[in-house]
Amino acid sequence: MNLHLSATAPGKALVPHYIPAGNECELFELAWKRKLPLLLKGPTGCGKTRFVSHMAARLGLPLSTVSCHDDLAAADLTGRYLLKGGDTVWVDGPLTRAVRNGGVCYLDEVVEARKDVAVVLHPLTDDRRILPLERTGETLEAPAEFMLVVSYNPGYQNILKALKPSTKQRFVAIEFDFLPKEQEIAIVSAESGLEERHVAPLVNLAQRLRTMKGHDLEEGVSTRLLVYCASLIESGLTPREAISAAMIEPLTDDPDVRLALREVAGAIIP
Ligand SMILES: Nc1ncnc2c1ncn2[C@@H]1O[C@H](COP(=O)(O)OP(=O)(O)O)[C@@H](O)[C@H]1O
Ligand SMILES: [Mg+2]
Repeated sequence: MNLHLSATAPGKALVPHYIPAGNECELFELAWKRKLPLLLKGPTGCGKTRFVSHMAARLGLPLSTVSCHDDLAAADLTGRYLLKGGDTVWVDGPLTRAVRNGGVCYLDEVVEARKDVAVVLHPLTDDRRILPLERTGETLEAPAEFMLVVSYNPGYQNILKALKPSTKQRFVAIEFDFLPKEQEIAIVSAESGLEERHVAPLVNLAQRLRTMKGHDLEEGVSTRLLVYCASLIESGLTPREAISAAMIEPLTDDPDVRLALREVAGAIIP
């Protein structure tokens, strides 16, 4: 199975550092208390995954994360019969395990998954909160401790990959975006160990490059790339080399666009 899973033990894990942009922590907690599923929208690398791991740890909930991809089918989430030493045994998938045991199940980039995944999510995301397992004949009722969180990036503008309204309207949604300058500087500095005064020009450059999104660039510089860039500088690379490696090369393969980005970078950070 081509899944990228990670599990955190309840209560034990340190709470991952997260700087809130608004009331999202409060919203998450209320959604959790009222058993409402949550949808996080926003560009790549702006803190969605970090937010979920922060909140799960804060609430002492086990977290199971699935990175969805275009080959991910419902059975990868629910489970399947597998051959084990001559016998066929049912093996729960990550979603089924979370429904049985409680905890947060986070489906990252849910629109990437195959269409049959929506069929599984629908009965779990209305007031029935059930997971029917056709293959075993069971119908599981989600316990109060179960919460479904999904994320997607509406910016890709791929009509085939948009989330259907019938699915979208089953979730409480939070929109994520890159944080305001001062907060982003604080995050990048905290994550990379580079002093804020050295981080500030990088954030200025990122903000400038983000305005080029849609014209020359498909995606703007993410907070994640800023953290990479600052980490490289903190480790001794020159700003020019770090910017090229972490803020220009990952954004484009087009030589002309690359040249344009270099010029913008050179004007801001000589
Ligand atoms: N609000 C925030 N607080 C702390 N770190 C953040 C925040 N937003 C982004 N980051 C940093 O950016 C990185 C990428 O964020 P991530 O949650 O993986 O993005 P996404 O899931 O939206 O693609 C994180 O590993 C973290 O270093
Ligand atoms: Mg993510």
